[in-house]
Amino acid sequence: MEPPTSEGYLKEVQKRKDRQSSLLDRYQSVMESLDQGVLEIGCGHGHWLTSYASQNSDQCCVGIDLMKHRVDKSVKKANKNELTNLHFIQAEAIEFIELIPQGTSLAAVVVLFPDPWPKKRHFRRRLIQPDFLDLLASRMNVGGKLYFRTDHHGYFDWTTEHFTDHPLWTLDSELVWPMERSTYFQEIKGPYQSLSATCIQKSAK
Ligand SMILES: C[S@@+](CC[C@H](N)C(=O)[O-])C[C@H]1O[C@@H](n2cnc3c(N)ncnc32)[C@H](O)[C@@H]1O
Repeated sequence: MEPPTSEGYLKEVQKRKDRQSSLLDRYQSVMESLDQGVLEIGCGHGHWLTSYASQNSDQCCVGIDLMKHRVDKSVKKANKNELTNLHFIQAEAIEFIELIPQGTSLAAVVVLFPDPWPKKRHFRRRLIQPDFLDLLASRMNVGGKLYFRTDHHGYFDWTTEHFTDHPLWTLDSELVWPMERSTYFQEIKGPYQSLSATCIQKSAK
């Protein structure tokens, strides 16, 4: 199938390229330090990862979020705590993961209270999708973990099904959470559910 060629589409493609090129210019060395490191997607105000990084000073920890004001708050926390192993970056998850060098093996990825997109017509906007799990598996340690927590039952079931059905991941029968530290959304939301999954094979994306 021919790719779309409308002016609007081509502009979006160029904008994405520009964003990725700017991320590489600014953060290539951070991306290169991520081998055996931890990536938090949608880190919000950075509470969880700041605590984790302070207890695991030998591990490179990177938190990404789309929203600048949240990333700015997180950066302040990292600076205040003088944590040189911790970095917060404004970036979209897929655009960022694509830039992590191919030979990288992340030890863990953390996703806490991601936007649930509750309406059926918006399900395709959910972060957890087969293609996303493929891409993530290309930058994971075999044996690396994804930790997921949500207050939305529908998104929890969706994520459980996506890991169960995916050939490169297996859902863990026992959940061992890496560290407990409440996040901003954990404080304001109701009861939540957590799961973890293990990457069983690297993909070649
Ligand atoms: C509901 S908030 C949860 C924030 C934080 N994890 C917490 O528990 O307090 C979801 C966060 O994910 C971010 N986000 C949503 N989609 C994203 C994406 N594709 N890439 C990076 N961040 C994303 C949003 O900007 C928002 O800060």
